[in-house]
Formats: sequence, structure tokens, C-alpha cells
Amino acid sequence: MAKIDYTGRVAIVTGAGGGLGKTYALELGKRGAKVVVNDFGGSRDGTGGGNTMADDVVNEIKAAGGEAVANYDGVHTREGGGNLVKQAIDTFGKVDIVVNNAGILRDKSFTKMEEDLWDPVVAVHLKGAYNVTQPAFLNMRENGYGRIVMTTSGTGLFGNFGQTNYGAAKLGLVGLQNSLRIEGEKYNIKCNTIAPVAGTRMTEDIMPPEVFEKLNPAYVTPVVLYLCSETCQDSGQILCAGAGLVQAAGIFVNDGVFLGPEPSNPEAVAENWAEITDKTKTLKQLANVMDQSMEIMKHYS
Ligand code: NAI
Repeated sequence: MAKIDYTGRVAIVTGAGGGLGKTYALELGKRGAKVVVNDFGGSRDGTGGGNTMADDVVNEIKAAGGEAVANYDGVHTREGGGNLVKQAIDTFGKVDIVVNNAGILRDKSFTKMEEDLWDPVVAVHLKGAYNVTQPAFLNMRENGYGRIVMTTSGTGLFGNFGQTNYGAAKLGLVGLQNSLRIEGEKYNIKCNTIAPVAGTRMTEDIMPPEVFEKLNPAYVTPVVLYLCSETCQDSGQILCAGAGLVQAAGIFVNDGVFLGPEPSNPEAVAENWAEITDKTKTLKQLANVMDQSMEIMKHYS
């Protein structure tokens, strides 16, 4: 097939100073996109900050013949998200692509999960995506084109001990995607989600070294690059990617059990529990919340 190219496109990658985001920014730059390399430059828990991380990636893109500009705003504030998008528009004229990738970790078991661990994690991941995507979406809507990528996590989709804050924020991004897919549809704005597995500073002390080495972030890059491209006409997909494997994840309903038409009782739920929760038979992905109501209404028609 024809090479996927981003010439004429303007891309914002948040948290692009290192790890996965850096690989997305470099590859977008190599393939012709004008890239806004955002990074707050802090440590893994979001403390500190500085310009070096973003600057280094910009220099690397330029050295390879690409165009890029650094942005040091924290995406966790409305002001930061607004500045970032404004800089993209002021510098390159528009925004076509947003990869919401910036992230921090503040792990603790749930009983010890205080607000100083909860709030910043939700602010960077979930509110950060809102802070950046909303002003970008306005510009995309005017231009009739946009590609947005959210970054969820296996923790949000499947769970992990000690990461209630992170998991809640990460699955919130899937909720954000689901409605944005619908709101962006008539403006050719596609929104998809990546659930990466990669060896980065975020995972270096939770993975055995031999596993860490196999999980080169470069395995995730092509999937995100595809989601950022004009070739991608799909929206609302969740892709798990790592070490060469790419899988689709999803939220489904089964056929369930109709306990009506009269209101039933908890004993009826208990008696039917195995069948209600049986996910080995037909699973359906619903297009929107109305579809969920239609699932109920079909038992009354
Ligand atoms: P990383 O720590 O190398 O990258 C995150 C980047 O975000 C850092 O460069 C950091 O400086 C930047 N950042 C943090 N707070 C920021 C803020 N407020 N504003 C702007 N930039 C900020 O980690 P990695 O692994 O590359 O993570 C990238 C994304 O992928 C994150 O959202 C992470 O949660 C997600 N992820 C990673 C997985 C993995 O296996 N590495 C697994 C699942 C999800």
C-alpha cells in the first residue's frame, strides 16, 4: 500500500519528551508532520519539571530534516492545555492530530490512597486529555478534519493492585473517547485509544529486565501512527499493543436474561446469576446509549 505520510499535517504529542511519546513524535516528524513536542519535563510522579526533555526531541526531529517546536506546559491545567493548542495554531496554523500521551504514576493500595496521590494522577491523565483536546477539537471542527488518540492502560481495562487512581483515570479516557467519537463524526474527527505495553521509565521497576527489554516502545509506535493518519477511517476503537501483538479490546453486552415484564426480586437475580454473567455466548458492542435502551425495549415489542 501507499506509504502513510503526514505532510501538511500538524500534530501535538503530549508527554513527548521521553518513552512512548518521544517515539510517536520522532516518527510523525520523519513522515512529514509538523510536530509540537509537549513535555512538562518532570519525574515519573509528576514532580519537578524542565525544558530539556522536549528540547532534545525537537532537536532530534530537526536533525532528521523534520519540523518541530517544543512546548513545556503541563497538560494538567486548563491554562496549560490552552497554551499548547494556541502555540500549535500560532506556529503552524492549525491542529490536525492530538496524541494524549502524558502521564504520571502515584501508586498506593486503596486504603492509603490520599488526595495528593489521587488528584494529580486524574488531573494529568483524564483532565489533561480534556484540557488539550477541547481547544484542539474546536480547531479541527473548523477544518473538518481531526485524528485524536487517547492513551488508556491495561490497569484501566483489566485492573492492577495499587493503581486505583491511575486505573480510574485511564478508563475515564475510554469514556471520553466514546462520546467524542459521536460528537466528532460529522466533522471527520476520529478518536481512538491505545493501551500500550512498553518498557519505559514508567514500567522499568515493575517488569523483570528480560521482559522490559523485549517491550521496545517502537512496537507500539506504528499502531499510534496509523490511528493518527488519514488512512484510519475508524473511530472508537481500543487497541492493545506491545512487543508486536496488536489486539482490539472492547466493551460488550451479552444477551442477558429478561426478568420482566413485572419488577422481579434479588432472589431471581441470584437464581439467574450464572446466565446473566455468562460471556461465552453472543457479545454485542453497542453504538451508543440509545442502543442500550433498545436492548431493553426489544423485550416489549
Ligand atoms: P513516560 O514516563 O516515559 O512518559 C510520560 C511523559 O509524560 C513523560 O515524559 C513526562 O515528563 C510527561 N508528563 C508528565 N506529566 C505531564 C504533564 N502534566 N504535562 C505534560 N507532560 C507530562 O512513560 P510512558 O510509558 O512513555 O507513558 C506514556 C503513556 O502511556 C502514559 O499515559 C502512560 O500512562 C501510558 N501507558 C504506558 C504503559 C507502558 O507499558 N509503558 C502501559 C499503559 C499505559
